[in-house]
Amino acid sequence: MRPGGALLVLLSSLLLLLLLRLLWCPADAPARSSSRLWVEESREDTRGTSAALRTLRSPATPVRRRRNSTYLKEKEKSLQLTEKCRNLQYGIKSLSNKTKRYSEDEYLQIITNIQSCPWERQAEEYENFRAKLASCCNAVQNFVVSQNNTPVGTNMSYEVESKKQIPVRENIFHMFPVFQPFLDYPYNQCAVVGNGGVLNKSLCGAEIDKSDFVFRCNLPPTTGNVSKDVGSKTNLVTVNPSIITLKYGNLKEKKAVFLEDISAYGDAFLLLPAFSFRANTGISFKVYYTLRQSKVRQKVLFFHPKYLRHLALFWRTKGVTAYRLSTGLMITSIAVELCENVKLYGFWPFSKTVDQIPVSHHYYDNMLPKRGFHQMPKEYSQILQLHVKGILKLQFSKCEIA
Ligand SMILES: *[C@@H]1O[C@H](CO)[C@@H](O)[C@H](O)[C@H]1NC(C)=O
Ligand SMILES: *[C@@H]1O[C@H](CO)[C@@H](O)[C@H](O)[C@H]1NC(C)=O
Ligand SMILES: *[C@@H]1O[C@H](CO)[C@@H](O)[C@H](O)[C@H]1NC(C)=O
Ligand SMILES: *[C@@H]1O[C@H](CO)[C@@H](O)[C@H](O)[C@H]1NC(C)=O
Ligand SMILES: *[C@@H]1O[C@H](CO)[C@@H](O)[C@H](O)[C@H]1NC(C)=O
Repeated sequence: MRPGGALLVLLSSLLLLLLLRLLWCPADAPARSSSRLWVEESREDTRGTSAALRTLRSPATPVRRRRNSTYLKEKEKSLQLTEKCRNLQYGIKSLSNKTKRYSEDEYLQIITNIQSCPWERQAEEYENFRAKLASCCNAVQNFVVSQNNTPVGTNMSYEVESKKQIPVRENIFHMFPVFQPFLDYPYNQCAVVGNGGVLNKSLCGAEIDKSDFVFRCNLPPTTGNVSKDVGSKTNLVTVNPSIITLKYGNLKEKKAVFLEDISAYGDAFLLLPAFSFRANTGISFKVYYTLRQSKVRQKVLFFHPKYLRHLALFWRTKGVTAYRLSTGLMITSIAVELCENVKLYGFWPFSKTVDQIPVSHHYYDNMLPKRGFHQMPKEYSQILQLHVKGILKLQFSKCEIA
């Protein structure tokens, strides 16, 4: 090709680009700003932004477009929904009312209403809540015992038996990781998987496995036919010392069964409340030594008792007065600090679904809710509030299959 020809091609393609831009932008601009306007308007619905301010924000926009009656009806409907969904916040707050006990059916009615409202992440609410958690508890630095936050010679007070202390000598100190081990913090999408029977036939497994970090509670089954409902990916799993005693015979004759079971969790962390009660310490250390001697991929971490005490005080100010938080709420609080987006699965402290179908206590057994309906809903109403405020998302029922 002659040099003149190349120049001609260049010039004509520049001209074409210019032409395309002229044609494309005018069509694009109103569409884009009208969608922005919609966002502004729906904000106005909830926050009362003045119309003048709104016009200032998108000056070049033709404000009235296609306002026929269908549009107005839709808008009215969405206004009513907004109103209803706003009232919901108040309804849930009253669940923390100390003087009145709510029945299970009253709870389920509120949850039915919540489910009919659209969920949207609220970045500002999230940041506020996360900042509050960070200033009380600072999970990022403190939720596990590390060599960094617990030097040799520390007298560590137990979480619940707080008058009792354990001196951290070299032999104990060496069990701790040097720093908190969550290298990829902050994680984008996290799943906190509870063990509720609602997970049965939920088909949530694929969605859970797509998360960047998956938290689970108390060594739940994840293999075989349950994995389509609960997923199989696990990054952190809590271990209640009682399961080591009851299910694995304190790792004596059933040590091999235990090692076989935990192999399902890949290179997950096993998190134990070693310093909550004195009775937990020996058995937690035994788990640590068993894993070390067997050279398996999973690693043991210990909940920091001071972190758990601070967290319990934090939730106490919100009306959760149980003497100890549930593992689910502990893990949820940690996830909010460690992740940008948190979704909860299998959190259902009720004996039936909103459609009155019985739900087992766990997805892996037939037991009905063990201790009945008592303190759990206090925690649950807090979690519902976080959902309604757009801080985290609760999956109430089956997952949508893409
Ligand atoms: C009214 O507007 C909606 C969308 O805004 C459109 O789907 C509908 O066809 C319109 N109806 C009339 C009668 O123009
Ligand atoms: C709490 O419950 C009592 C008794 O039902 C009621 O009188 C009171 O108004 C409730 N308070 C709130 C804040 O809902
Ligand atoms: C821990 O407790 C022991 C025994 O009560 C005491 O001698 C020691 O000084 C304490 N250490 C610290 C760092 O407080
Ligand atoms: C799921 O698997 C377990 C154990 O492999 C088996 O006992 C159970 O019957 C299975 N359940 C279904 C619904 O297939
Ligand atoms: C959930 O699944 C388990 C195991 O397959 C079963 O035993 C239990 O009855 C199921 N519970 C419900 C509520 O379907």
